[in-house]
Amino acid sequence: MDDDAISTHYGISGILNSILEGLKSSGKDLNSLKPEDLAPIDEFHTRGKESTLEITQLAELQAHHNVLDVGCGLGGSARYIADEFGCSVIGIDLTDEYIDVANKLTELVNLNDKVSFKQGSALNLPFSSDQFDVVWTEHAQMNISDKDKFYSEISRVLKPKGRIVFHDVFAGSTANPHYPTPWAEHESISSLCTQDQAKASITKSHLKIEKWIDKSKQSLEFFKNMAKKTDQPGSPPLGFHLLMGKTAKTKFENQTLNLEENRVSIVQGTASKI
Ligand SMILES: C[S@@+](CC[C@H](N)C(=O)[O-])C[C@H]1O[C@@H](n2cnc3c(N)ncnc32)[C@H](O)[C@@H]1O
Repeated sequence: MDDDAISTHYGISGILNSILEGLKSSGKDLNSLKPEDLAPIDEFHTRGKESTLEITQLAELQAHHNVLDVGCGLGGSARYIADEFGCSVIGIDLTDEYIDVANKLTELVNLNDKVSFKQGSALNLPFSSDQFDVVWTEHAQMNISDKDKFYSEISRVLKPKGRIVFHDVFAGSTANPHYPTPWAEHESISSLCTQDQAKASITKSHLKIEKWIDKSKQSLEFFKNMAKKTDQPGSPPLGFHLLMGKTAKTKFENQTLNLEENRVSIVQGTASKI
């Protein structure tokens, strides 16, 4: 998989400015911004904040936990975890622009003492072994072809009995997805595996699967709604469309079809290091 092609897909220029403009148009004061003001844009995964709240339950977070967010994007989940649970969180992401914006948004909401971000690859995590209580990852795995390496790196940096919590897109049971999708303008940067293949890679990485929850049905409603409201007059200034370029509406429509036709599936889950 070509890292540059993935960074180019996500790293459209001027993201920070469009977010700041969107915040101002929504009536927010940039001098007294709260982490939740950023939720329409910085939770760049299916069902946004709703899903983040669900996986915090699965993670069983505690204030003393050291958390790593792999493929953190703009850092919304990392900031939420730090703000709500008091954990120390590091986010890592391939895309330079996202890391720059993640750091600036974190400064704006005064969470720099708890949260930091670093550019890097999930396949070569720049951390020593046995370091994190929780590894959190949402919607990054589908751009990564080497699943064994992805899960074995996560397992390596987890402390013994530490936990991975994930929320990811997998292949469905019928046919290949319609493209473009939110994670891939073209099929060439998509790396979907089946749920069974992911389970095999997780297990091979000395991780014991604890929870496996199919969220495809709830996700379908989300994409239908996003497709309907994107490009409508009066649609909110701040939203995922700012990150998805000119094909945003088509990506939402395709993902609706992909879920309806069982071409993709979406799962939340946890596994612990043996
Ligand atoms: C759809 S976004 C999700 C961002 C974030 N997890 C969230 O839920 O808001 C996917 C992210 O995965 C990152 N990513 C893809 N491949 C990666 C890799 N090999 N290593 C690190 N990050 C990667 C992309 O740069 C992008 O920021």
